[in-house]
Amino acid sequence: MWGQSGDHGSMSAPVAPAVLAGLLGEGWRRPGASAHALADALRGLVVDGRLAVRTRVPSERALAPQLGVSRGTVSRAYDRLRGDGYLVSARGAGSWLTLPAGAGPGAPPPVFGGAPARALDLTIAALPAPEPLLGECAARAATALSRYSAMLGCAPAGVGELREAIAARFTERGAPTTADHVLVTAGAQHALHLLLSLLTTPGERVLVDAPSYPRTLSAVRGARARAVPVPLGASGWDVAAWDAAARAVGPRLGLTIPDFHNPTGLTMSAGDRAALAATAARSGMLLVADETNAELRLDGPAMPAPVAASDPGGAVVTIGSMSKSAWGGLRIGWIRAAPRLIRELAAARADVDLAGPVLEQLVAVELLARWDEVLASRRALLRPRRDALVSALAEHAPAWTCRRPRGGLSAWVRLPSPVATRLAAAAAHAGVHITPGPSFTTDGTFEHHIRLPYTRPPDDLARAVQTLSQLATRVGGATAVEDDPAPAAI
Ligand SMILES: Cc1ncc(COP(=O)(O)O)c(C=O)c1O
Repeated sequence: MWGQSGDHGSMSAPVAPAVLAGLLGEGWRRPGASAHALADALRGLVVDGRLAVRTRVPSERALAPQLGVSRGTVSRAYDRLRGDGYLVSARGAGSWLTLPAGAGPGAPPPVFGGAPARALDLTIAALPAPEPLLGECAARAATALSRYSAMLGCAPAGVGELREAIAARFTERGAPTTADHVLVTAGAQHALHLLLSLLTTPGERVLVDAPSYPRTLSAVRGARARAVPVPLGASGWDVAAWDAAARAVGPRLGLTIPDFHNPTGLTMSAGDRAALAATAARSGMLLVADETNAELRLDGPAMPAPVAASDPGGAVVTIGSMSKSAWGGLRIGWIRAAPRLIRELAAARADVDLAGPVLEQLVAVELLARWDEVLASRRALLRPRRDALVSALAEHAPAWTCRRPRGGLSAWVRLPSPVATRLAAAAAHAGVHITPGPSFTTDGTFEHHIRLPYTRPPDDLARAVQTLSQLATRVGGATAVEDDPAPAAI
């Protein structure tokens, strides 16, 4: 797409050729079709949010030597992106990334090259609402609303009875909590955004798990902070590496996902929770534990207490959500922190959206009153789907390996060769959309991994795995499912 002069006024800063090369990694390189593959990889960066929409890309002349390809290759890749609506160019102003109409979060997945009508989106790990529970809770909430209608309805920290119910659930799980430790948000992502905007300044470094949830990384970028990845080991967190990074960097914030980590599925042991909380307290770092998946245990050992239970002094902040354990459409999440920080966050939140809607918060109160039923319904849906995915991998892709997930919503699958980006691009053409490993990183690594959610019905999962395994043999590279080596990892 060639832009009109003047429509590029608010484009972001250019990405340096070396930074772009790092983000692209090596997964797109293959003999013969490099322009095509480069375009797919660039499109992946903007679709995954690893590069912001409106980021200016380097000129063909600057990028080609950095990537070690000809100018013609970069030029053909840019032409392809322009043709598909992912790049806009204007004479004298360069070229910048964009999204075509209909693409982006919440839109149907992009379908390239005439994908079959039955496209399967496995890029999103989420479930439909638990019914009839949600409907019943919504009906009770609608009745309860009249208790609020004589008030103004704007409570930046959230409706009191929901704050109390969330606090009670923390207390039940082992972290004693009162309502003044709780701020209700519009989901975990909103919670993370609030923390980043209140507690970081542009250029500041923030410790993150490597790999990590892509929107954790994009939220850090959105705050103009710099993510410093701390690698996860094969069976869990490297506490010594966190300690060393905290000493070296002196960060104000560290972000981790301790329960059924997205994407690896690992759960932090009780000992590591205590050690990481101690590191945070010693180094003056606020450790943000994202518990979005914490209540999604399917089987295996009992969950350790929340990280916050190891921290009497306020060095651990917890964010949580109803999106995975109940329903993403509610947009209800929370922050648990020291009351003073909660007050500051509530004031900052009021600057953005004043407060959350009362009705949804009352639905959440009703759901929490029937929480055991909600979780049981999620387990009943997810267990057969998890088992179907694991069986399909064993049958159709025996050379791929993955830990049998004990909870959460997805499996982290290791391929025998580093072809994740190419496999994801080929699968998209065949109508199966998956997230390749590099999308969970800051530097384009993890080309040996793909994340496969088991949130779709068993037949869809079997069809997806069959397609993926056939394509994997074509793009370069058969599942040995190991049982979870708990208790160290859990
Ligand atoms: C680890 C993690 N954090 C945050 C989110 C976003 O949650 P929410 O829908 O509550 O904003 C997700 C969703 O997948 C997630 O997996």
